[in-house]
Amino acid sequence: MCSPDQQRREAAAAVAALRAGELVILPTETVYGLAADAADPAAVARIYAAKGRPQFNPLIAHVADLAQAERIAVFDERARALAAAFWPGPLTLVLPVRDRGAACELARAGLDTVAVRAPGHPLAQAVLRAFQGAVAAPSANRSGRPSPTTFADAWAETGEAAAAGLDGGPCRVGLESTVVSILDAPRLLRPGAVTRDAIEAVVGLLAEAEADDGRRSPGRLTRHYAPNAPLRLGAAGPLPGEAYLAFGPYPPGDGVWNLSPTGDLAEAAANLFSMLRAADASGPIGIAVAPAPEDGLGEAINDRLRRAAGHVG
Ligand code: TXA
Ligand code: MG
Repeated sequence: MCSPDQQRREAAAAVAALRAGELVILPTETVYGLAADAADPAAVARIYAAKGRPQFNPLIAHVADLAQAERIAVFDERARALAAAFWPGPLTLVLPVRDRGAACELARAGLDTVAVRAPGHPLAQAVLRAFQGAVAAPSANRSGRPSPTTFADAWAETGEAAAAGLDGGPCRVGLESTVVSILDAPRLLRPGAVTRDAIEAVVGLLAEAEADDGRRSPGRLTRHYAPNAPLRLGAAGPLPGEAYLAFGPYPPGDGVWNLSPTGDLAEAAANLFSMLRAADASGPIGIAVAPAPEDGLGEAINDRLRRAAGHVG
């Protein structure tokens, strides 16, 4: 922790880095986050790469307050009551998405819902107020490791990938936010800092997360985006009537979307969900998808493609 003046300068540098599409180590009251502009798919792709995530889990869109959150997500009375009771603070609400661009497809992992949270840490608040937009921030650990609760731990985990970092001292809560979806019945998706009892006091009994979620497999916590058209993976080109998701050099044309003409996996990740949607919306009999390498972000890309193709539950 440092002087208020220095904190202001560091917060301004963090905002500039976010605007430039860079990553920032961001303190919150729960755990440290690895933050990026949620509207910028290339920046969000960098988060997944830095964490070494084998899957594109949907990320939380962090905002300063309820007014900002209402621009991104659709709140009903129950969601508003929870925000009034616990924000700013360690509660994340999963709601229908309102502004699909404010939290891009990659940040939402292609879902029609978005997770929003207004964190309580003063430095996070300062950054979010100045930045105005939503900030995607998973915990700053590398995939499969514990969430960092000190600046030193966060920096050691993913600092290498960050252009800026804010030392907000040790996290007050030290445990991730509680995740509740308000879609039909309010549902507890992840227990966390705000207790079930505290939430039920506001919205009544919580339904359990669906049976198919998983403590077994964290990537299955949410239903995954699946296009209407069947996917054919590992395709060198489209058959008649198929749309084609190319990767690497491929002649442009009608019905062809190229995830990355240069074969750049970060670019492909940034384009994946939006191009899947665009290809699907063109009404093809199927979507053929070019093979992508399994290394680096390729593992997450291929995981999502296999899920979209129905090969994984
Ligand atoms: O305390 C926290 O929540 C920390 C700090 C940095 O804010 N962030 C955090 O993010 O824990 P992350 O990415 O590690 O966990 C986000 C959780 C995941 O379990 C994810 O599946 C869930 O939120 N989630 C995000 N968007 C969702 C959605 N649209 N539907 C269902 N679950 C969602
Ligand atoms: Mg995490």
